[in-house]
Amino acid sequence: MTDGVREVAVNQHRLCSVDDLQSGEARAFVVGKEHIALVRIDERFYAIGDICSHQRISLSEGDVHPEACELECWKHGSTFSLITGEPSTLPATKAVPVYPVEVVDDGVVVTVRGSR
Ligand code: FES
Repeated sequence: MTDGVREVAVNQHRLCSVDDLQSGEARAFVVGKEHIALVRIDERFYAIGDICSHQRISLSEGDVHPEACELECWKHGSTFSLITGEPSTLPATKAVPVYPVEVVDDGVVVTVRGSR
């Protein structure tokens, strides 16, 4: 902490401002080698891998299901938990990564291991 502003560690990355995303919206970000889908549901933010585990499709281009806290791949319809990264429907069978995300001041900050 310095002057009331919280410092962000080197493996933490500010993706955007809180107001840049509306509730129910998903947006893709690239941090180093990580492709991240950032999702906002009400005042909560979630960050999971943006690349579908079935084929190389951007999950952030799919629909957000706020009630189930899932993101749907538009290509074949697998839905991924925003909490665990696990798919709940076929054809995808493997989880996508989940990244810790928090709001720092007015920014949305994600933690990516091993990145700088
Ligand atoms: S590419 Fe995502 S479910 Fe097939």
